[in-house]
Amino acid sequence: MATPKRLPYSTAGAGGGARRGSGTVPPVVVLVFLFVVAPSIFLVARSGGRGHVHVASDPKGANGNQETDWQQQLVTNNLKTVLSKEVIDAIAASQQETGTLNLDFFRDHASPSWKTDDLVDHKMNTSLDVDDKAKAENSTAEHDLSLTYKPPKDGSDGHQGDTAVKIARRKLREKRREKRATDLVLKDDEAHVKLENAAIERSKAVDSAVLGKYSIWRKENENENSDSTVRLMRDQIIMARVYSVLAKSKNKHDLYQELQSRIKESQRAVGEATVDADLHHSAPEKLRVMGQVLSKAREEVYDCKVVTQRLRAMLQSADEHVRSLKKQSTFLSQLAAKTIPNSIHCLSMRLTIDYYLLPLEKRKFPRSENLENPALYHYALFSDNVLAASVVVNSTVMNAKEPEKHVFHLVTDKLNFGAMNMWFLLNPPGKATIHVENVDEFKWLNSSYCPVLRQLESAAMKEYYFKADRPTTLSAGSSNLKYRNPKYLSMLNHLRFYLPQIYPKLDKILFLDDDIVVQKDLTGLWDVDLNGKVNGAVETCGESFHRFDKYLNFSNPHIARNFDPNACGWAYGMNIFDLKQWKNKDITGIYHKWQNMNEDRVLWKLGTLPPGLMTFYKLTHPLDKSWHVLGLGYNPSIDRSDIDNAAVAHYNGNMKPWLELAMTKYRPYWTRYIKYDHPYIRGCNLSD
Ligand SMILES: *[C@@H]1O[C@H](CO)[C@@H](O)[C@H](O)[C@H]1NC(C)=O
Ligand SMILES: *[C@@H]1O[C@H](CO)[C@@H](O)[C@H](O)[C@H]1NC(C)=O
Ligand SMILES: *[C@@H]1O[C@H](CO)[C@@H](O)[C@H](O)[C@H]1NC(C)=O
Ligand SMILES: *[C@@H]1O[C@H](CO)[C@@H](O)[C@H](O)[C@H]1NC(C)=O
Ligand SMILES: *[C@@H]1O[C@H](CO)[C@@H](O)[C@H](O)[C@H]1NC(C)=O
Repeated sequence: MATPKRLPYSTAGAGGGARRGSGTVPPVVVLVFLFVVAPSIFLVARSGGRGHVHVASDPKGANGNQETDWQQQLVTNNLKTVLSKEVIDAIAASQQETGTLNLDFFRDHASPSWKTDDLVDHKMNTSLDVDDKAKAENSTAEHDLSLTYKPPKDGSDGHQGDTAVKIARRKLREKRREKRATDLVLKDDEAHVKLENAAIERSKAVDSAVLGKYSIWRKENENENSDSTVRLMRDQIIMARVYSVLAKSKNKHDLYQELQSRIKESQRAVGEATVDADLHHSAPEKLRVMGQVLSKAREEVYDCKVVTQRLRAMLQSADEHVRSLKKQSTFLSQLAAKTIPNSIHCLSMRLTIDYYLLPLEKRKFPRSENLENPALYHYALFSDNVLAASVVVNSTVMNAKEPEKHVFHLVTDKLNFGAMNMWFLLNPPGKATIHVENVDEFKWLNSSYCPVLRQLESAAMKEYYFKADRPTTLSAGSSNLKYRNPKYLSMLNHLRFYLPQIYPKLDKILFLDDDIVVQKDLTGLWDVDLNGKVNGAVETCGESFHRFDKYLNFSNPHIARNFDPNACGWAYGMNIFDLKQWKNKDITGIYHKWQNMNEDRVLWKLGTLPPGLMTFYKLTHPLDKSWHVLGLGYNPSIDRSDIDNAAVAHYNGNMKPWLELAMTKYRPYWTRYIKYDHPYIRGCNLSD
């Protein structure tokens, strides 16, 4: 390279790079111990999430791969004992700011300011020793921050060697070597595989909730450098906090004041920004000034040991913060998943108003003669979300070979009845037939007939569902939330157990959830031979999960006597029901029996799947898995080809496609069926 650039590792820094041999950037290496660990874990956890361990390419094609491999292992193992699994998960999953501290703190301690606290006004050519450098390179390979960051020019003075630090560092290095020598024996492929597996396991455990909005799969992160300045500024703020504490303790009031005001200014400049593009235009200047102040502070108050302690303390408090944030986000994302966003609410309101302005004769759908014709393809869709229902209907019709043979039976609640009608009056599903009913109009569905309603009305149940006392802790809140959520109370959910009552003239019906999208012609489902069974569904059990014992209380003798704990679970969402067999086997009666026995919730806690599993026990026919792919609302690592090939994709989980927390990569499967140019949709600010 002809022109010296201020790039780390790659070139000799202009003016002074050559001067700085190892040992001239004092705080770094001691801190490396503290921080090198974090990104390694991040790397491992992150790559695990993608189903494989990331093999970072060594930018310089450097030697000593074996050694650094080994080091990563060691570092990973060490960290496992230092940080709790929860924290590691959260680190991997979240990039949310943690109040006083930033998760980048863990993620990118390889960011420049961790290499040296006053690096901003110095060259980026750090003098980490080779091992540390190799590791740093590995970490930066992911986020490649320092390779592009060009520090502002600024009269830099060299580094004063700090002998204490040198010694400490040397000791550390020696210790590492010693340990390496003993552990080297253990190093082999097996260990590597173990490490990979551990990483994959760990990433699986990442709570789906946290993955939502702040998911590492988010677009922003695909451009690795788009937030380098933001991260640098946040790191500076952290460093400035450390120094301001030291300055105060050493009675350097001027310095303290200056740091405080710089912190404030930098914070203002960073604001809510998560990418560089969002930064205030004053940011580069703030960055530069802060760099100068930090450098000055370092000269005046630097004390390696104290700085290290201080940072460690901050790390710990960040830990706790991460933990509480994680709980909070679980809580909030559950709430969000069950809540209809404002824009959809707006859509529903506007449609409702316009519906009731329509003259009565215009409120009718055509082709009502099709509704009871058993020769056609009938769908049952129970929903209170007009946008979701529109996607289900539109996607089904768009992919149907003979749309005129398809009939949609939509049932909604009182609140959304007008909106649903209006939407489909304005956007008729081509030649297909649709009609909309209001569940509150089903007079036969009353508490003398339906145990769930009776139980809901019973005092005990009310107490359980509507617990008045406020949750005192977040975790209590998140568990109570489930029970108090209207979603679990809504009769719309339990309607699936009354299909022959609702559609007495039909022989077969396809039940669809509203959080699905249809991608193929579904008529083949009516031809599947159910072998006398009632319910055709895809099974969900793998090696050990989604079996009956996951859903039902096998300590209860009724359960233990009647069911096999290893029986395979199946999924609601796309089920073909044989209504003749249903009546023969008195499915609704079986359901009532179990629901009655669950008055005090000893058999199962919540939802419709457990009673479904019991009701359709030995009456379920497994469908080919390609009919129905599950998990788009929580599983970030579904095979793309599985989704593309599936007839129905199901966003079960918290990250519904209509929520902001949706996983960006799965959203297009759903949004492609929304008419974003529709005046109602635009009027409510629903945008792609
Ligand atoms: C950094 O500085 C050292 C010695 O000062 C020099 O040999 C080296 O080429 C520079 N660049 C890198 C990438 O370390
Ligand atoms: C980075 O990590 C990968 C995988 O662990 C390893 O193969 C590579 O040698 C490492 N490179 C450096 C420079 O440490
Ligand atoms: C309740 O439902 C049953 C059958 O489902 C019906 O016979 C009865 O008349 C209904 N009662 C009321 C009050 O509507
Ligand atoms: C499971 O059933 C047993 C026996 O009825 C009961 O004592 C226990 O409380 C139930 N467990 C739960 C979690 O409800
Ligand atoms: C479905 O949505 C697409 C895209 O918005 C639209 O062009 C099409 O007319 C809709 N079809 C039906 C049957 O609603």
